[in-house]
Amino acid sequence: KKIAILFSGTGTNLEKLLEFLHQTSFEYATIEVALVICNRSDAPGIEKARRFGLEPLIIDHTLYPSREAFDEALVHAIDKSGAELSVLAGFMRILTPIFTRHIKAINLHPSLLPLFKGSNAIKESFDSPMKVAGISVHYVSEELDGGDIIAQRCFEKSEGMNFEAFEDKIHALEHELLPQTVKKLLDRK
Ligand code: GRF
Repeated sequence: KKIAILFSGTGTNLEKLLEFLHQTSFEYATIEVALVICNRSDAPGIEKARRFGLEPLIIDHTLYPSREAFDEALVHAIDKSGAELSVLAGFMRILTPIFTRHIKAINLHPSLLPLFKGSNAIKESFDSPMKVAGISVHYVSEELDGGDIIAQRCFEKSEGMNFEAFEDKIHALEHELLPQTVKKLLDRK
């Protein structure tokens, strides 16, 4: 089964997913990363993909006149790759229906959805009076961070936990949950 992975920046989730796919034997499926897409030519994650022998395709959003035109380029590349599932691993672009209606995709989000949608989720959930926080993997739909939730992990905010420790905890959970969710979705007959 072929997948595409899309990312924008640091790429730690990309790296953990590639490591996992490299190390894990699947019961029913052979999973091939048919395509890695990055929308920034200077993203540190590009080197991480190269270490796994994957050369990311750069689709630079700044070179397209509209979100729709950018999405068309994404859809075209994904279709061509034959990927049946696209994994957004820190892909920081808002997608239009051009993408969401044509591509089956999952996204990783650093909060317990439906709370704290959008790009400031970690800070908002840290600042909230809630005693727990967490992360979500969900299907990508037309509504930003609003598609069906597939899996979540949560933790208790400990007394006196600072922002850095909070963020580290979020990322540690993400690094586990995204690969597990990809396995759960694809390792089927
Ligand atoms: C993650 O926190 C993810 O939830 C968010 O962007 C971050 C990506 O981090 N959408 P990285 O590039 O995988 O290190």
